[in-house]
Order: sequence, then C-alpha cells, then structure tokens
Amino acid sequence: MLLDLAWRLLRPLAFALPAEKAHDGALSSLELGGALARGLAGALAGPPPPSLARPLGRLRLTGPIGLAAGLDKNGRAADFWPALGFGFVELGTVTAHPQPGNPKPRMFRLPAEHAIINRMGFNNDGSAALASRLRALREAGRWPASPLGCNIGKSKVTPLDDDSVAEDHLASLQHLRGLPDYFTVNLSSPNTPGLRTLQAVEPLRRLLDRVVPAAQGTPLFVKLAPDLEPDELAAIVLAAIEGGVDGIIATNTTISRPGSTGRLEEAGGLSGRPLWPLARQRIGTVVQAAQGKVPVIGVGGIHQADQVLELLDLGCSAVQLYSALIYEGPGLVHRLNRALVERGR
Ligand SMILES: Cc1cc2nc3c(=O)[nH]c(=O)nc-3n(C[C@H](O)[C@H](O)[C@H](O)COP(=O)(O)O)c2cc1C
Repeated sequence: MLLDLAWRLLRPLAFALPAEKAHDGALSSLELGGALARGLAGALAGPPPPSLARPLGRLRLTGPIGLAAGLDKNGRAADFWPALGFGFVELGTVTAHPQPGNPKPRMFRLPAEHAIINRMGFNNDGSAALASRLRALREAGRWPASPLGCNIGKSKVTPLDDDSVAEDHLASLQHLRGLPDYFTVNLSSPNTPGLRTLQAVEPLRRLLDRVVPAAQGTPLFVKLAPDLEPDELAAIVLAAIEGGVDGIIATNTTISRPGSTGRLEEAGGLSGRPLWPLARQRIGTVVQAAQGKVPVIGVGGIHQADQVLELLDLGCSAVQLYSALIYEGPGLVHRLNRALVERGR
C-alpha cells in the first residue's frame, strides 16, 4: 500500500529528528495541509468500512479503533484522523490553564522495543483554545462522522485539594460545553505531580459528584493507569460506575519498565509494545469489574489485529492506540480495519 511505502521512506528522516520535533513537524504539516492532507489520506486509507461501525454507549463509532489521547492534544488536525481509519478520536489532554509542560527533552523513542517514554506534563494550549478550534470545525460544517472526544486533566498550578481539582475540571467543561461528542477525565498521567492520588475511591467519588452533572449529558469517561493493583483498580471502576461515568478507558502509560532495554534512566510513562502484557491484564480486571454496566475501551501496546480481536473478545467495546502509529506508520489503522473485516468483525 502506498502509505506504507511512503512511511518506509519517510521514517528514517522522521527518526533522525528528536521525537518531539518530528511530532510537531507532522502536526504542523497536517494543519497546513488541511483539505489536501485529508484528501490524500482519504484516497490512500479512508474511513473505516461501514460494517465496522458500532455503538459505544450513547455514541456511534464509525469503527472500533480510536486515536488515543496525547497525539493531537490541541486538536490541530482533529478532522484529519478519521481519514486514516480511526473510528473515534480523543483530543487532549487539555487543562483549564494553558501550560508549557515539563522541560525538553521529554519524549524518547525506544526503537528496539517499539516503545516511547514521555514526561510531557500536559503541555497544551488550554481548554479554551481547543474549544475555539472545535467551534470553528462545527461552524465550518467539517465535524467528522467519527466521534471527537476531549480528554481533560488538572492544571499543574491547581492545588490538589478536592475543591480546587473539581473547579479546575469544571472550568474546562465549561469552556468545551456543547462541542465534543464525549469527555474523558484523565486521572492517570504519571507526569503531573500528585495527579494519580485522585485514582482512589473517595477522591474519585467526590470529583465525579461535581463533574458528572457538569458534563450536562455529554458522555463522560474516566481514564485509568495500569500501575494500580488489580484490587484497587476494581474498586475504582465500581466507584466510577456508581459515580455515573459512561465508560472506562484503560490504560494510560506505565511508570514501570517491563521488558525495556533502552533509555531506562529517563523518567516518565512507558507506552508501546512492552506495555501490552500489563495493559492486557489490567484491561481484563476492568472488564470483569465493570460487569458490562458501562463500555470499556482497551489501550496499551496495540499494534496488530490479533490484539484488537483479543480485547473485543474479552468484552471491550473499542480500543485506542498511539505509539504503534509512530512505529508502523499511518497505514496501520487501515490495515487493522481490513483484517477485522476479513475476520468478520
Ligand atoms: C507522547 C505521549 C503523550 C501522551 N499524552 C497523553 C495525554 O495527554 N493524555 C492521556 O490521557 N494519555 C496520553 N498518552 C497516553 C496514550 O493515550 C495511551 O494511553 C498510551 O500511550 C498507551 O497506548 P499506546 O501503547 O498505544 O501508545 C500519551 C502517550 C504518549 C506516547
């Protein structure tokens, strides 16, 4: 396929640049390329085949494979991703206050493992800026058929007490209200000091008491870390369901270093292939705890069709990926979609 061939030629050039430079360059090209980039991707890959469309709670996905949060934090190419075959797209994480994130370098490739370590620290233009971009998309009639979600997180400057955390999330919800097809509350980034302490039953309950009503009927998911022990994770899933969430996304990156040989000294969250065994286990725990009461979206190290099928068979309603796109190239999702159709999904 042409996209794969193009990626084979381009990848050495992209990988010669520092990871974040390559990432920013790619997003700038997509932003500048606009309709041309969408048209080209549409011709070479295209949206998921209609037979892959499916419900996810109150959403209608155009396919089961979504873009995970973090790649297009600011929604610079929000309407591009469906043309690569993504059935839904998660923008963000954005925070109520725009923030620069951690000092660079903060994103590292581990090519031998097909993995990434990042400690970006929620660098983003802020939820108001994302809202302006999404408003422009809606007003231009360019909202894609694939649902667009906004992942929101706590601003670094906001203290960790219950009230401040809730107010920070409410500010983002207010900026974005009426725009995205769904929200995700991200409590699982390892790169905002203290954030993961919110992944406990009582703090989560108190946060959801305020946040769920403020979503005003827009589906709201919670995204969890793989570093929670299974018992804790199951208790948190139950608290989230009782708190009124519409779905669980599992998992984020891990602070552990399963199977990695490269860049072990770098702090941050590990994603990509070495995350799979841990993510797969934790996704199993989440599916079991959720008991079908809300949909589960599986994420972590997915790069081949067998993994997608395994998670769907396990009881996930959909999956997301990020790191594999960097290593396998932009034709990946199209290939996975084709394999799913061939296997009758
Ligand atoms: C560079 C980078 C930045 C990320 N930023 C975010 C983020 O802002 N919010 C979030 O919820 N997850 C973020 N993630 C985590 C991904 O959404 C995903 O949960 C994780 O990478 C595991 O999936 P993967 O192995 O397919 O990459 C980020 C991942 C990477 C590699």
